[in-house]
Amino acid sequence: MIKPHGSDSLMPLLVDDPARLEALRTEAEDMPSMMLSSAAAANAVMLGAGYFTPLQGFMNKADALAVAEHMQTGSGVFWPVPVVNLTADDSGILPGSRIALRDPNVTGHPVIAIQDIEAVEVLSEEDVDFIAQQVYRTNDEAHPGVATFTSLGRVLVSGPIQVLNLSYFETDFPETFRTAVEIRSEIEKRGWERVVAFQTRNPMHRAHEELCKMALEAVDADGILIHMLLGKLKPGDIPADVRDAAIRKMVELYFPPNSVMITGYGFDMLYAGPREAVLHALFRQNAGCTHLIVGRDHAGVGDYYGAFDAQTIFDESVPDGAMEIEIFKADHTAYSKKLNKVVMMRDAPDHAKEDFVLLSGTRVREMLGAGEDLPVEFARPEVARILMDHYAEEAANSA
Ligand code: ADX
Repeated sequence: MIKPHGSDSLMPLLVDDPARLEALRTEAEDMPSMMLSSAAAANAVMLGAGYFTPLQGFMNKADALAVAEHMQTGSGVFWPVPVVNLTADDSGILPGSRIALRDPNVTGHPVIAIQDIEAVEVLSEEDVDFIAQQVYRTNDEAHPGVATFTSLGRVLVSGPIQVLNLSYFETDFPETFRTAVEIRSEIEKRGWERVVAFQTRNPMHRAHEELCKMALEAVDADGILIHMLLGKLKPGDIPADVRDAAIRKMVELYFPPNSVMITGYGFDMLYAGPREAVLHALFRQNAGCTHLIVGRDHAGVGDYYGAFDAQTIFDESVPDGAMEIEIFKADHTAYSKKLNKVVMMRDAPDHAKEDFVLLSGTRVREMLGAGEDLPVEFARPEVARILMDHYAEEAANSA
């Protein structure tokens, strides 16, 4: 099986020995504590679940800046996005101490992890601007990822962590949330050698479905890992439980049996386009996948990135050998009215725009909001039904 990133074995930071866990919980009761941001809690979950192997905790300032600048930590680990614990309130947080990190997303704010504080450093406004510019390619506060990042505070608390639980993901999504450890072991159990990962934060429409099928065939894979984001999104994106139901219905009706694993991971969307695509590839390698599909405007938002920037970054900025996972680069995919099937546009050079069924995300939301059917060429009717029900419920609740 493909090796984890930068390590011979996966390094989940979740403490799973019950006695050790109990001892840490007791120890945490007497420690100073800090409330994490949702972004930092999501990092803790990814570290806990093994997805962020080989990182051991939150990066210090030098590493955060180096990762932002050239995607490498001081110790030479290739990594595309700073994994940081930023706060506005550093009272009681001293280098050399151990602190309990509280979960902002769970009632009662239980301790999610314990951190050994190595350094407490302040990011200047220039540092924050530099990181945003490098990671998000913009400083625009209207970008949802930039807005979150710049709101996190300027005090960077670094050092290794031990993770005590995986936040709300296990309880809210028991059928879908899986750690990298669990996915690797399921892949092994199924005897899959070549596994294509599909990242998504959306319900899957016809284009998504066909992308998966095309990739399966093109790379001669044994199966596909649909790996959906279960963490926080921007307003207007469809909630995880609705996406999950839509995806399950689509797989049940339209995929061959045993060709798909439907899973999810606990991370807040960064909307960092190209840099997030590289992160996506790394943690799918950690989950045991040999390929990741990267299509049009992967992890993008608005017009901040070129439609295929998330593909070119792999050629232009990822050094040879930095990762083992391979990218399946997909062109814009849509239903062709001429050919009566979903195709990649590069495979239909004689087509004009009008020959495809193209709907913007905004148009789709408008249609669903108005209770209109989505065209069958765009969405499977059973999937559209789940989405329409969700929109109707939303409308009823807000009335
Ligand atoms: S993402 O933010 O998680 O990337 P989304 O769930 O919409 O958003 O996309 C999942 C994957 O499908 C990404 O790799 C994206 O590039 C790809 N994709 C979505 N729609 C299309 C399309 N019409 N054509 C080509 N690729 C697409």
